[in-house]
Amino acid sequence: MDQAIELHKATPGSQWWRSGVIYQIYPRSFADFDGDGIGDLRGIERRLETLSSLGIDAVWLSPFFKSPQKDAGYDVADYTEVDPLFGTLDDFDALLAKAHSFGIKVMIDLVPNHTSDQHAWFQRALAAAPGTSEREFYHFKDGLGENGELPPNNWVSMFGGSAWTRLVEENGTPGQWYLHLFDSSQPDLNWSNAQVQQEFEKILTFWLDRGVDGFRVDQPHAMAKALGLPDHPYVEEAGAGFIEGRETPPMWFQDEVHPIFRRWREILNSYEGVRAMCGETYVYPLSLMAKWVRPDEFNQTFNFRFLDAGWDPKKLFDAINESFEAFDGVGAPATWVLNNHDVIRHASRFGGHYGRATASDGVGPSDTQPDNELGLAIAKGATLFMLALPGASYLYQGEELGLPEHTTLENAYRQDPTFFRTSGTRVGRDGARVPLPWEPEGASNGFSDSGKSWLPQPESYKALARSLQEADENSTLSFYKNALNLRKQFALGEGSFAWLPGHTGPGSLGYENLGIRVIYNFGKDPIDLGSAKVLISSQPLIGGQLEINQCAWIKP
Ligand code: NOJ
Repeated sequence: MDQAIELHKATPGSQWWRSGVIYQIYPRSFADFDGDGIGDLRGIERRLETLSSLGIDAVWLSPFFKSPQKDAGYDVADYTEVDPLFGTLDDFDALLAKAHSFGIKVMIDLVPNHTSDQHAWFQRALAAAPGTSEREFYHFKDGLGENGELPPNNWVSMFGGSAWTRLVEENGTPGQWYLHLFDSSQPDLNWSNAQVQQEFEKILTFWLDRGVDGFRVDQPHAMAKALGLPDHPYVEEAGAGFIEGRETPPMWFQDEVHPIFRRWREILNSYEGVRAMCGETYVYPLSLMAKWVRPDEFNQTFNFRFLDAGWDPKKLFDAINESFEAFDGVGAPATWVLNNHDVIRHASRFGGHYGRATASDGVGPSDTQPDNELGLAIAKGATLFMLALPGASYLYQGEELGLPEHTTLENAYRQDPTFFRTSGTRVGRDGARVPLPWEPEGASNGFSDSGKSWLPQPESYKALARSLQEADENSTLSFYKNALNLRKQFALGEGSFAWLPGHTGPGSLGYENLGIRVIYNFGKDPIDLGSAKVLISSQPLIGGQLEINQCAWIKP
């Protein structure tokens, strides 16, 4: 084989967030302690020891703050209170201490683009008159048209429908409109207001003082809006989104947001230890995203280009090249991710051919059902391919069990606002958020001692329960553990990257990291691995041959 050409150099001895594996816990579906059928902080604490055996470096907890739960906690009513559904601040402190005792860092979710409509700031704004400083916390505007009956501009919500809702004043007359890029219960904050900025600095400090290791920041690319809130120039084509290469819509990645992140980074850096923030940034092209991870801004951002590649070799090849070029250019690590609570689980996503616009639209009973066996085979290969890439990797709870999406969930159970705002046209994300199976017993497979579960688990979850997989060396869980163990042993997160000549698509993709070679076979013909030592493979290899949809780490 010819000499591989290095695209990324090793970063030995790097900080945890640069090279670690960060596991997303979705609290309401991880483990239920109090028996109400909704996961909680004590449930997480109870299961942490088991989780720690997976070999992760950090956890990211999705929101557990006070919230009316209109968007599963991404509608925060108080940023410094724990919602009673999930427990108390004392429970959080206990969980943090326990995680730290296992050497696991804890990142929490900060949701700065919008609050809940139940937040005191919004309630105060509603009670105040138009034009007052209370209303300046949000985007309140008079409507267009003769009587203000039309929304102030043409923006639409990410969850469907208009991005504006009109108030009804106390005397019953229609009033101003307020902006919400998501659900109407999630009004957007006005980030050009210095008071909003100060409030969030206090929130950061509150949690940093408690000892959190960092923040995953929700929708930071939406925080700054173009002055005057002009129309989206091609809303008919892009809806709430944008089209790469076209004009940047006025609600996405505006430059005014950068000083805010610089200030946040200063705050993080002023604390002892290494505190980090990861942005949930949908910013394209990646050369633009690089501005968000300059040394004095976010430590890292999710690399959705990789997730969105849909396991297509050409798209993956481009995504990886662009990632190293963009992130290395500013000294930031690339991050890799294939799953989260917003997208169809990869074991189902890769086993179906979904015509839907985005993976966050979900799969419902009337859609073509995925081939989950094929999906899991590809998903394991994809994960193996990802876990040897240098940089940080994010995992989503349940993927280590090979859980499929719940694709036959009855509509009566749905909670995602996407489903309601589109009258069911987009079924939404509930299928990726189903509670985890821990033991193959009881009505909720060990999720809750009471047997309750806020979403029903599909039949297939029983056989995938963690306790069964712990005891089976051929299980998906054992496979994840082995991969994570090898990743650590060979320090691959801090490693280097070079494409292997002859493996740059379309039949296969292969790269080398610190002498370990990783090959994924996308083609029809088997790849002969010769006399190389196979460290791990996504399926058992027969006669040293890598078949289609298989991935292996080898040592030549
Ligand atoms: C991204 C979160 O991941 C998603 O779950 C949420 O609905 C939106 N941001 C709005 O906060």
